[in-house]
Amino acid sequence: MNEIKIAPSILAANPAKMGDELKKIEDAGADYVHIDIMDAHFVPNLAFSPAMVKAFKPLCKLPFDVHLMITDPKKYIPVFAEAGADIITVHQEVTEDLGEMADFIHQFGVKAGISVKPGTPVEVLEGYIDTFDLVLIMTVEPGFGGQSYIEAMNEKIAKARQMIEKTGKAIELEIDGGVTPANVATPVSYGANVAVAGSAVFNAADAAAVISEMRANAR
Ligand code: DX5
Ligand code: ZN
Repeated sequence: MNEIKIAPSILAANPAKMGDELKKIEDAGADYVHIDIMDAHFVPNLAFSPAMVKAFKPLCKLPFDVHLMITDPKKYIPVFAEAGADIITVHQEVTEDLGEMADFIHQFGVKAGISVKPGTPVEVLEGYIDTFDLVLIMTVEPGFGGQSYIEAMNEKIAKARQMIEKTGKAIELEIDGGVTPANVATPVSYGANVAVAGSAVFNAADAAAVISEMRANAR
């Protein structure tokens, strides 16, 4: 098993010190910056705008992993791509045509991700997984950081990995919500290879130590 990738979610960062926070995770050895976009419709919360993503871009060399928790992703994909997203993930629950969505995202020169909420079976992605670069399994209800990992998602992660293996492509399998050094090992053993972590990284005194611990526990 290769090393997992760690994607700290800046939803848990100090918004008044974003430059320092981005530098901190870059120095700590993170692989991606996970940026949650919320519209107060798809989820009952608001977070980050295209202008903010654009302002953060020059402050950090890590790829920007942009998670759109919004009801009309197509309308905002061009603007987030322009703002500096490297990966754009949309939700299955607000996507009518999955194949068309993947092509649409790719048009803007970014990688395409597809996400499912805890209540959505991963089987809805059957036949379309190979059009995406990343599958994101939500391991909490989307909308807020600091929630507890839903253990029942482990089975879905295993199923998603089986579906990915069948495509023969190097599609990433990301988990998001409640991931900590203490619980990362099981989902990784089931095939997750990218771990988003908000509170675990940003609420810690030593972000680098948490990231190393997550990697070590995932081995
Ligand atoms: C929740 C977001 C997550 C969140 C994770 O809707 O998609 O990315 O920031 O935060 P933690 O790691 O604190 O659960
Ligand atoms: Zn997220």
